[in-house]
Amino acid sequence: MTLLITGGASGIGAETARLAAQRGHKVAINYRSREARARKVVADIAANGGQAVALPADVSHEADISGLFDAAEQALGPISHLVNSAGIGTSPTRVEDFDAGVLARLFAVNTVGLMLCCREAARRMSTRRGGKGGVIVNVSSMAATIGGRPGASAYAASKAAVDSFTMGFAKEVAPEGIRAVSLRPGMIETEMTERTLADREVRAAIESTIAMGRVGQAQEIANAILWLLSDEASFISGVTLDASGGGFVFGKR
Ligand SMILES: NC(=O)c1ccc[n+]([C@@H]2O[C@H](COP(=O)([O-])OP(=O)(O)OC[C@H]3O[C@@H](n4cnc5c(N)ncnc54)[C@H](OP(=O)(O)O)[C@@H]3O)[C@@H](O)[C@H]2O)c1
Repeated sequence: MTLLITGGASGIGAETARLAAQRGHKVAINYRSREARARKVVADIAANGGQAVALPADVSHEADISGLFDAAEQALGPISHLVNSAGIGTSPTRVEDFDAGVLARLFAVNTVGLMLCCREAARRMSTRRGGKGGVIVNVSSMAATIGGRPGASAYAASKAAVDSFTMGFAKEVAPEGIRAVSLRPGMIETEMTERTLADREVRAAIESTIAMGRVGQAQEIANAILWLLSDEASFISGVTLDASGGGFVFGKR
């Protein structure tokens, strides 16, 4: 497997890169601003005998995306697998305080950027275009299933669009050797959530809404992603998988 991971320098993307390399796969790690972090992941992988490269690109810039795939292929050969993990949140915002620029940026990264990465992958993987097929995992969010926690309706919508898009995309490319799946993590301890989870009361409140009573770790999501990418999931496409500690529960535990 030759795997490209967007947003691969931190959190879920970085854990996925490390795990994939441990299992003998070649990994292209995309980063936007976290160059040093991306290089550290590459160095760690190389130190363990793996093969990886760090490649800059902002997935909200269309030209960056084709450049990213070109650079990944130049370094590692044809990309057979893609994980779209690049994503951003917003500070909690009520709808009456929405800002068009913030919304545009959110959707440009989480939704349109991801869709264009899928486009680029399809152009290269589709057997209809001479490719060898492939697998794509889009990292969505459980937020999509509940409209987000308070103040996160826009983020939730950007991820719900990912789920719906992935279903349609998967049907389109299924006859052409490409599987596409949307993975919905619940609350995971990464840099995206560290400020929220640093407040012990907030953390406890959040954990009381998770059936397993705890937030998840990036490695638990990486494990699910690696399985979806593998041939063990060969008949699975066009669906969403929830990796969410049993899902939401409300009221007293
Ligand atoms: N943590 C959670 O609880 C949780 C739950 C559900 C879903 N998710 C989703 O999981 C994915 C990974 O998030 P994470 O939790 O691992 O947080 P993270 O550590 O913040 O990872 C997100 C990564 O995306 C990169 N990124 C952001 N904008 C980008 C852009 N325009 N182009 C390229 N890369 C970009 C970031 O790098 P730069 O800062 O350098 O841009 C960062 O490395 C996201 O899509 C997130 O929405 C997370």
